[in-house]
Amino acid sequence: MSKLRIGLLYGGRSVEHEVSITSATSILEALDSKRYDITLIGVDQEGRWHSGPGDRDPGRLLEGAAATAITERAGEDSSTEVLLPAAPVGDTLVPADSSAALSAAELDVIFPIIHGRGGEDGALQGLLELAGVAYVGSGVLSSAMQMDKDVAKRLLAAAGLPVVPWLTFKGHDLLPERIPDTAARGIAELGAPLYVKPANSGSSVGIHRVENRDDLVEAIRDSSRYDSKVLLEQSVDAREIEVAVLGNDSPQASLPGEIRPRSAFYDYEAKYQDDATELIVPAEISQEQSDQVRELAVRAFRTLDGAGLARVDFLLARDGGALYINELNSLPGFTSVSMYPRLWEATGLPYSELLDRLIELALERHEQREALVTKYEGSGGSEG
Ligand SMILES: Nc1ncnc2c1ncn2[C@@H]1O[C@H](COP(=O)(O)OP(=O)(O)OP(=O)(O)O)[C@@H](O)[C@H]1O
Ligand SMILES: [Mg+2]
Repeated sequence: MSKLRIGLLYGGRSVEHEVSITSATSILEALDSKRYDITLIGVDQEGRWHSGPGDRDPGRLLEGAAATAITERAGEDSSTEVLLPAAPVGDTLVPADSSAALSAAELDVIFPIIHGRGGEDGALQGLLELAGVAYVGSGVLSSAMQMDKDVAKRLLAAAGLPVVPWLTFKGHDLLPERIPDTAARGIAELGAPLYVKPANSGSSVGIHRVENRDDLVEAIRDSSRYDSKVLLEQSVDAREIEVAVLGNDSPQASLPGEIRPRSAFYDYEAKYQDDATELIVPAEISQEQSDQVRELAVRAFRTLDGAGLARVDFLLARDGGALYINELNSLPGFTSVSMYPRLWEATGLPYSELLDRLIELALERHEQREALVTKYEGSGGSEG
């Protein structure tokens, strides 16, 4: 049996660039080299794609690419700037400079592990669809829905799933002179304290917890720098429970885990710089609560049309035990110590088998899409 050709796509322009490199490094180490031929595709901070063989390390490939760009010593380094043609032409990657040494590469599956905007918001998935290549994870619409906190909450709420009461503001409500008014409306309708979030962000960038109107005005100003849509949400004094979902048509939920940040909330530093953030796997909650979060996680995944994987994050109120779906992450952190793979590990699926499964699911979904009728074939009766 010939090996599957996997493109491991990582890096990207978001604040989560470094996390993505760490995820890619773990994935590269765990992918079975007897089954897969791996091509690294690193996206630099400027958004350029660089490719090189999978025997290099993902961080060095991008460093090498940067050094090549600075010294213009192309050829000495084994990475090449590449493009992914937005057409199903057979070659998945072509050299950006047609005189480059690297020839075009054909890939069977792309494993994108680029977090945040441009990576998990549907944009990249659209390019991969146009290229006609199988890829790990949710499609265009689902990725976009999972990324947009306003759209996600509307759809979850419409499906009868529990979300924290919220309001969304955009357009003239976010004009500098109108923000004090917007803040007053927010407090009047939702009370305080409140969370303020850009609709599309990630890694807690632009997110604030505020107690009063003056701080709310400042928080809305800041959040609106990151997105043209801003959410205000009631703040719930809650434990943070996370569930990993895996599958396409029959998604399964892992055991739940809990994150216990040391800081006031799980902000950017707590996530990526503070090793003291505790991950408790499995979460110490009752069997009944565990069953409930797992069921809600699968329903949320289905509601947002997820494919492959997602991490579903919950807030579990300390007082009264109410559960709320906080958000879905379509391409969660994937280092070997990240919550998503750890939850599967605890549920009986080791890291490298989880990767095999994700690749199978990508191929399965691709085949299903390829089999769809894309042009009118008549009403079935013979003509004449
Ligand atoms: N309504 C809320 N009540 C209480 N805490 C909240 C609420 N909303 C968010 N938080 C806290 O803020 C953190 C970040 O919020 P959220 O998960 O919505 O943002 P994010 O930047 O998209 O995160 P991620 O990087 O996981 O995608 C949460 O992990 C939680 O600690
Ligand atoms: Mg979060």
